[in-house]
Amino acid sequence: MSFKEIAPYEFNENPFSTLAKDWALLSAKKDGKSNTMTIAWGFYGVMWGKNVMSVVVRPQRHTLGFIDSADTFSVSFFDDSYKDKLTYCGRTSGKDEDKIAKCGFNEYDESGAPCFEEAKLTIVCRKLYRQQFDESCFIDKDVCQESYPDKDYHIMYVGEIIKIIKKED
Ligand SMILES: Cc1cc2nc3c(=O)[nH]c(=O)nc-3n(C[C@H](O)[C@H](O)[C@H](O)COP(=O)(O)O)c2cc1C
Repeated sequence: MSFKEIAPYEFNENPFSTLAKDWALLSAKKDGKSNTMTIAWGFYGVMWGKNVMSVVVRPQRHTLGFIDSADTFSVSFFDDSYKDKLTYCGRTSGKDEDKIAKCGFNEYDESGAPCFEEAKLTIVCRKLYRQQFDESCFIDKDVCQESYPDKDYHIMYVGEIIKIIKKED
């Protein structure tokens, strides 16, 4: 098994399937420790003349403090055989369990972000922007009501994509 860095223009994953259907792990480090959580919402594209990925994290997530204290984060995509592990990482908090150890992931560092050898594709981002969604900014109030009945508005991070790592068999 080997890893290859690919250029953004070689990245041809469909966001509607990779995120919404297959999900991903969002990971960051704080004080030398790593945490990860499952995500299914986010975007990638071009902003401020840079290739970017945006992720959204609710305030109650343990991962939030990790992303806030790091300069970088990673988004890892896996093949279908890891779906049970992604389900676990999306239902259990790092406050209670060491999810990375329980999943048996082999972690490595890339630009300060935790990455996993098991991932088929990893996007490493450098944080550029952070902002919490604001109730008053929703034009469609139904979206706000449906997604935030508890007013736990996501914090959105926009990260510059600094590396895309692809696993080769
Ligand atoms: C399929 C799926 C997608 C999820 N997407 C998100 C997301 O985009 N943002 C978010 O804040 N939580 C999302 N979650 C919830 C977190 O993954 C979950 O609350 C997790 O346990 C948080 O872990 P932590 O407390 O260690 O950060 C998702 C969960 C699942 C199962």
